[in-house]
Amino acid sequence: MIKKLALSALVLTSSLFASSEVNVYSHRHYDTDKKLFKMFEEKTGIKVNVVNAKASALIKRIESEGVKSPADVLITVDAGRLYQAKQKDILQAINSDYLNENIPANLRDIDNKWYALTKRSRVALYKIGSGIESKLTTYEDLAKPEFKGQIMVRSSNNIYNQSLMAAMIAHHGEEYSLNWAKGVVANMAKAPKGNDRYQVKAVANGIGQIAIANTYYIGKMVDNKDASQREAVKKVKVLFPKFENGGTHINVSGAGVAKYSPNKDNAIKFIEFMASKEAQKLFAQGNYEYPVLKGVKASELVSSWGTFEDDNISINTLGQNNKAAVKIFDKAGWK
Ligand SMILES: [Fe+2]
Repeated sequence: MIKKLALSALVLTSSLFASSEVNVYSHRHYDTDKKLFKMFEEKTGIKVNVVNAKASALIKRIESEGVKSPADVLITVDAGRLYQAKQKDILQAINSDYLNENIPANLRDIDNKWYALTKRSRVALYKIGSGIESKLTTYEDLAKPEFKGQIMVRSSNNIYNQSLMAAMIAHHGEEYSLNWAKGVVANMAKAPKGNDRYQVKAVANGIGQIAIANTYYIGKMVDNKDASQREAVKKVKVLFPKFENGGTHINVSGAGVAKYSPNKDNAIKFIEFMASKEAQKLFAQGNYEYPVLKGVKASELVSSWGTFEDDNISINTLGQNNKAAVKIFDKAGWK
């Protein structure tokens, strides 16, 4: 009898425990996210357990854990990675009126397996005084011979570049995109190396005049303990290129519920919270990202760079064209 009681008490405790937690596998590693997790815990009483790693490692881990995976939510940066996660069949469709009504259709998976939480745009930064702003308007322009020796951009194994190329393919097809990539390679100031901030620093130091980077890095360079980053970013200005037949390239970070999520209700609550007004405000203010929720504004610093129109292609396309993008980079010799 005692044994039976002890057993049922154990079952009860574990089920209580299970219903009050959410296991989040996240590629994002920002202080803002930590604050948001805490806010969610305080609001709901649901404990957030976080596993941080690169998206590829998290996706593999969820795959290998299979039906026993404790993962409830997968958060990644870049739509290309969200698409990969979906293709590997580690996410499940969810039905959330809040998310369906508030996350624009072009910023979520067509089968509701992931939702964007933040937007970022991939922009050009030019050296102040270089006069680049009067010559560069489009992404297509980056391949023009007049920019020979001026472009600083990271390697093609980076998913941000792959997604930019995926968008180029969506606009112009593969043949044009290959020629474009060859043109950009011919214009590089140096062989690709380093991250987005490295490119900005290089341009600030006179190596090339155009750096390609995601917007939030600029915010992070302005608001940085490291004086070399703060100084570098003072020497450049943001320019929002657009596609000839579209807008400025945007990408997202987003989240989906894991296929075998043991705490599905909590997982949905968690994603809904990340898309709530208060969370969206913090993403915008604390991490210099663009909110996906209507009515929430970008931070003052981010707004000071100017406005742009989002590109018109669905973010789903970035994943669909990823393989073709990688092939084109290889053919073009973009290291
Ligand atoms: Fe990043």
